[in-house]
Amino acid sequence: MKWLCAVGVAVSLAAQPTLAETASGNLPLTPEARDAFVTDLLGKMTVDEKIGQLRLISVGPDNPKEAIRDMIGKGQVGAIFNTVTRPDIRVMQDQAMTLGRLKIPLFFAFDVVHGQRTVFPISLGLASSFNLEAVKTVGRVSAYEAADDGLNMTWAPMVDVSRDPRWGRASEGFGEDTYLTAIMGKTMVEEMQGKSPADRYSVMTSVKHFAAYGAVEGGKEYNSVDMSPQRLFNDYLPPYKAALDAGSGGVMMALNALNGTPAAADAWLLKDLLRDEWGFKGITISDHGAIKELINHGVAADPQDAVRVALKAGIDMSMADEYYSKYLPGLVESGKVTMAELDDAARHVLNVKYDMGLFNDPYSHLGPKGSDPQDTFAESRLHRQEAREVARESLVLLKNRLDTLPLKKSGVIAVVGPLADSKRDVMGSWSAAGVVAQSVTVLTGIKNAVGDAGSVIYAKGANLTDNKGIIDFLNQYEPAVQVDERTPRAMIDEAVSAARRADVVVAVVGEAQGMAHEASSRTDITIPQSQRDLIAALKATGKPLVLVLMNGRPLALVKESQQADAILETWFAGTEGGNAIADVLFGDVNPSGKLPISFPRSVGQIPVYYSHLNTGRPYNAERPNKYTSRYFDEANGPLYPFGYGLSYTTFTVSDVTLSAPAMRRDGSVTASVQVTNTGRREGATVVQMYLQDVTASISRPVKQLKGFEKISLKPGETRTVSFPIDIEALKFWNQRMKFDAEPGRFNVFIGLDSARVKQGEFELL
Ligand code: BGC
Repeated sequence: MKWLCAVGVAVSLAAQPTLAETASGNLPLTPEARDAFVTDLLGKMTVDEKIGQLRLISVGPDNPKEAIRDMIGKGQVGAIFNTVTRPDIRVMQDQAMTLGRLKIPLFFAFDVVHGQRTVFPISLGLASSFNLEAVKTVGRVSAYEAADDGLNMTWAPMVDVSRDPRWGRASEGFGEDTYLTAIMGKTMVEEMQGKSPADRYSVMTSVKHFAAYGAVEGGKEYNSVDMSPQRLFNDYLPPYKAALDAGSGGVMMALNALNGTPAAADAWLLKDLLRDEWGFKGITISDHGAIKELINHGVAADPQDAVRVALKAGIDMSMADEYYSKYLPGLVESGKVTMAELDDAARHVLNVKYDMGLFNDPYSHLGPKGSDPQDTFAESRLHRQEAREVARESLVLLKNRLDTLPLKKSGVIAVVGPLADSKRDVMGSWSAAGVVAQSVTVLTGIKNAVGDAGSVIYAKGANLTDNKGIIDFLNQYEPAVQVDERTPRAMIDEAVSAARRADVVVAVVGEAQGMAHEASSRTDITIPQSQRDLIAALKATGKPLVLVLMNGRPLALVKESQQADAILETWFAGTEGGNAIADVLFGDVNPSGKLPISFPRSVGQIPVYYSHLNTGRPYNAERPNKYTSRYFDEANGPLYPFGYGLSYTTFTVSDVTLSAPAMRRDGSVTASVQVTNTGRREGATVVQMYLQDVTASISRPVKQLKGFEKISLKPGETRTVSFPIDIEALKFWNQRMKFDAEPGRFNVFIGLDSARVKQGEFELL
């Protein structure tokens, strides 16, 4: 390598050049050049310096700035997370580049999950858009803003398939479906990393949480997962694989145990599968404190043992625990951890730093000092238009009786509910770099839209909940939920009086941001009682009632679906949420979102997901039979199915036609429908194609999403939508864990949601 020779010359001429000096800024970003560079660097490092590279810490009470400076100086830190401004990042990079013996740059990471300064809808909302262009925008803008803040890596995308709405983190993923989650995750990786994570406005991704965190038993946070290999490989692993195939440089391991082995101790996951089978070359990171937790999991006897187990299993970098730095030196000295194992882990960290371009320019995402933004939080740094456009796409119309929506901008509109004017909640969880004051509430959005044309009256109507225990839980670390000291009666009376004076009532109800987050599992997925009382009182006024739902999980809404005239699911719609919601409420934009996760009727139905197996005794609504698979005290199936969402116009879908009745293994067939806009407005909808392997060596799901296309049609317009199907779409992991397609009949279902579909069929020869 040419540049290596150059280093050699430099070494012979001067005393000891720094890396910053030797790295001319022109290191070629190729794997070969990287390997040579890192091998050379490893050769210069002491054991302690190698161990230092494995340490990922956050500045905070446990690690105050002064202590961090000292540790950086001694080469005891590899990367920093949770510092998100250029001046703060610069200070630490300066320390690494001036105080450290080898001057190895730090990298800086953060949870950029659905936006950085500009907050986009939560991932469930992004999935609801079924719009890859919208997701691309989110990926690009998020990466741009994160890189502009000096960050090099994001802890995203989160692609944990989840079929359990009790789990608060379902909000962070793309829903219940494997295909949808995979394509969303892949798109995010491609957009965030761009051509190279080293580019000025790209960041490296770290897909999480590997693996199957979304399937924690009972939806209870941090719980265990026990799963058949077929389900794991067919349903839960493909999204991680898709994100990695798209080039994600990092993987964050899950906190849960999978089939008895905690992810941070799982050599099968970390090595056999990830590296040997899938060929992953990037970095593996334990989740927050996960190495320590190996003791609680019962797979490590003490801290030293936990470190041994984690490192040997293949955890490169340890997030937020000091165990690696404390115990690895002794373990290496005693030979319990070999130098080769330590080198492997350190190499992976140095590799990603190289790929991030940090050895070319440690300040590549910082620029010269004078270039730091005058005001990190400046309005001018936001991408409001993009946020508004994406948010519009994410809204799902669940009900619209007698065309209650869209609303007129004239007349009197009563806006009520504890979430109607909450700037914090509309941003959703994992939005810490966003500024609460910059978000637009639904009340503001409605006022902006109405202007002088009508009048808007507001009443809070209820507290988020009257359950003090829940308020205390939500306000544990900061005053996140404001409690109105008036009695529930007084608040409802005020709202009812507002409703009586109005032509229509818009009630913004659901969950606070903190109810759909990490460590926020619920046993009860209804709207809190205080708000249900409000809804009942509003209903009793007889005024048209529109529910605007804000929530990070499917809610059980049987009663509300009867009380409300219209329901708009808005998830947590982000910085521009209020404006985007108003755009849809008033019909400036026709809603086009579809549910990426089924809405159960009650918590007792969980798990309810569309791609279930048929069972030997499937329930048939047209011919009900006692001895079929069902609950006798509840209607069967979800309240709102996967893929469901209405529009202000109507669409019809023709019968399915297939290009051929049969397909050879090396061939393909194309399934098509004609979709017609039969209403009076232009509108978009999502045409969804599902497949069913009717008879196979193992029981296969009743249907599985294998393609979708979002199309926009003018009134009266018809479009043919076609889905090519090849052998890849038909493959699955069978009982002997062979991934293949089996000959026989396949059903093709095409429709505008997973429940109401047109059917065709073909045969795989
Ligand atoms: C979460 C991760 C997150 C990390 C860093 C953990 O508690 O499980 O998803 O990336 O914290 O903020």
